[in-house]
Amino acid sequence: MTPRTALVTGASSGIGRSTAQLLADRGYRVVGTSRDPGKIAAGDRIPNVEYLPLEVGDPDSMRACLVAVGKVDVLVNNAGESQCGPIEEIPAAAIERLFTVNVLGPVQLMQLVLPEMRANRFGRVVMVGSMLASFPVAFRSSYVASKAALRGFTSAARAELQPYGVSLTTVEPGSINTGLSQRRTKYLAQSSPYRSAFDTVLSALDRRESRGIPPEKVAATIVRAVESDRPRSLYAVGSRAPLAFAVRRVLTDGGVSRLANAQHDYHPRRVLRASRGAAPS
Ligand SMILES: NC(=O)c1ccc[n+]([C@@H]2O[C@H](COP(=O)([O-])OP(=O)(O)OC[C@H]3O[C@@H](n4cnc5c(N)ncnc54)[C@H](OP(=O)(O)O)[C@@H]3O)[C@@H](O)[C@H]2O)c1
Repeated sequence: MTPRTALVTGASSGIGRSTAQLLADRGYRVVGTSRDPGKIAAGDRIPNVEYLPLEVGDPDSMRACLVAVGKVDVLVNNAGESQCGPIEEIPAAAIERLFTVNVLGPVQLMQLVLPEMRANRFGRVVMVGSMLASFPVAFRSSYVASKAALRGFTSAARAELQPYGVSLTTVEPGSINTGLSQRRTKYLAQSSPYRSAFDTVLSALDRRESRGIPPEKVAATIVRAVESDRPRSLYAVGSRAPLAFAVRRVLTDGGVSRLANAQHDYHPRRVLRASRGAAPS
């Protein structure tokens, strides 16, 4: 039997690399992408994975990639940017870029593969979201919004494709130890009034990520979704996801916000107290 073809975006490192590895181990033909496959270190290349260039969000690059791959049975939209900054200070152009890479690009890539999947009456699309979309945290507004938008597209369109054997799923990882902290884009004005709180949240994020679960565990969840006869709409993995989602069900939105922020050492009341007496900026 011809093996199914899986296209994994952002396969040069982290979750994408582990997913490409696991799918290849399980007998899929795997095509992994990178903006510059030539720069992937020899040690990071996985035998049996073909690498193609892809700039997510660039329509020409996405079309050229799909022509080179041929029929796609499984699409794992994993490539993404992690961004942070106070909402007042993230440049509009940075937010636009984030939404291109994290939302519009993955959605367009999905649109391009769906007609053939529908005609073949089989397809699996997995969007790699983030648990932060379910547990929003201060200074991550653009990233949280991008991952929530990705989940929105996926969960709403899911019912359209269901009758055709094509399943759309979001996998929301919690804190995963991939080294993403070093690649996160940060925006903070020189004299930002948010500096102290921002630095505290960033330290908590970095600490949580360095103590996070390995990317192989996320890959296992992604492959579980791919290989399930009836994949769920949403999977979450890492950051004690089952407990977190159980608690979320009994909390108000305010409660969820307080919990998520407290886990990142952010306490608005403390910021208020500290700011009393400080000159307004
Ligand atoms: N690590 C976490 O704690 C965590 C938690 C929740 C969600 N996630 C999500 O999981 C996904 C993977 O994250 P990761 O931690 O594995 O990060 P990573 O190791 O930095 O991997 C990101 C991948 O995306 C690719 N990429 C980045 N920008 C791209 C662009 N404009 N066009 C095409 N490819 C691009 C990179 O490839 P090249 O640089 O080779 O092009 C790289 O392979 C992301 O969507 C992230 O938001 C991660």
